[in-house]
Amino acid sequence: MAANWTPASWRDHEGRQMPEYTDAAALAAAEAQLGTYPPLVFAGEARALKADLAKVAAGEAFLLQGGDCAESFAEFHPNNIRDTFRVLLQMAVVLTYASKLPIVKVGRMAGQFAKPRSKPTEVIKDVELPSYRGDIINDIDFSPDSRIPDPQRMVRAYNQSAATLNLLRAFSAGGYANLHQVHAWTLDFMGRSPWARKFSEMADRIGEALDFMKACGIDADTVPQLQATAFYTSHEALLLPYEQALTRRDSLTGDWYDTSAHMLWIGDRTRFAGSAHVEYMRGIGNPVGMKVGPSLEPDVLLRLLDELNPAREAGRITLITRYGHDKIESGLPPLVRAVMREGHPVVWSCDPMHGNVITAPNGYKTRPFERILAEVRGFFAVHRAEGSFGGGIHAELTGQNVTECTGGAVDVTEQSLADRYHTHCDPRLNAAQSIELAFLLAEMVSEELAERRKAAA
Ligand code: PEP
Ligand code: CO
Repeated sequence: MAANWTPASWRDHEGRQMPEYTDAAALAAAEAQLGTYPPLVFAGEARALKADLAKVAAGEAFLLQGGDCAESFAEFHPNNIRDTFRVLLQMAVVLTYASKLPIVKVGRMAGQFAKPRSKPTEVIKDVELPSYRGDIINDIDFSPDSRIPDPQRMVRAYNQSAATLNLLRAFSAGGYANLHQVHAWTLDFMGRSPWARKFSEMADRIGEALDFMKACGIDADTVPQLQATAFYTSHEALLLPYEQALTRRDSLTGDWYDTSAHMLWIGDRTRFAGSAHVEYMRGIGNPVGMKVGPSLEPDVLLRLLDELNPAREAGRITLITRYGHDKIESGLPPLVRAVMREGHPVVWSCDPMHGNVITAPNGYKTRPFERILAEVRGFFAVHRAEGSFGGGIHAELTGQNVTECTGGAVDVTEQSLADRYHTHCDPRLNAAQSIELAFLLAEMVSEELAERRKAAA
């Protein structure tokens, strides 16, 4: 267990990007209330994810992590949960089929509410108000009252997360994820995308393989893996009062776990040495992600890794790189070399979203699909050159037919961004763009594996 650590020891460190609650008594009441609520996940599940991620670190599995930039109270609806879960399943099937690797599925779901912001305030028509920081903190509506942080929002976010997770557990274990359903998952509006046909052809072939296996006596009754799938949850552990309230000691091992999600990550703006967020994360037993971008020097990264994973446990750390399509090939190699030299067993995952945001002439924040793809290509090129394993993708996506990122086969243009732009924070890939990304990614992962096999021979 981490030395000199308690669930509250982060309070003696510099905490950035957290709200200043004005009503201390209301904050204490909400924290106390959450402290009595049941854990959302169990320590054993977090350990199972860590074991799965250790396989990714070893090049024997691939990580697929995705979901909303920010979940919201307004978009809380079973269809939204189902559609995002479904598109992640579809992507996982595409990736498994091409790479023949197990895919570790982790949603940015059931707790992804708190947002770091580049500016503390927002100005509209000469009115300046505190920035929106996610529904767990304040309200997106641009009025003075809405922007006041309200601690009871943590309780509401907890309840929404519990209900979301309940449905995800039902979907993943209750038959929806049954591989025989792979055709039924097809999303209607994918019809116009050439990738819809590719998906349907692949589903046919999987169906034939399943029929063949059934004839041999292998089906969902005899092999439960065909019936259910492991699906994990994750979010940025930004709002530490919330995370602390859900930090519990595991009765089996005596270790501390953050029971708000299976995996938590530290954002790009809060991963500096000495930060409250690093202090909190070092003491929990969950798998931990860390965003890695152009501002991180190799020696600082190594110090952070020593602090977060002194035992060098495989599966504990996932480094989520987010450089931008034009910076990844120069920025990433020094970090990969430093990590390999020191022998830290990490998962390298590619976030091609956060370094590729542009503002369209009509004012919409967007991400061009070609730049997203270019960053993914750069990511694999670096890992191929360095001999490391590019083992994951981290994407902001939704199963809804939104128009938030431009490009893709069903071309979203800058003019059409206004049609269905629903995100509460960053622009997300829609379902068709997500499937397209999965097919192109699957090709790159297969090439990576072929190269690795050649190098090992
Ligand atoms: C995010 O993942 O939504 C995010 C804010 O990312 P980053 O910390 O990498 O900017
Ligand atoms: Co985001």
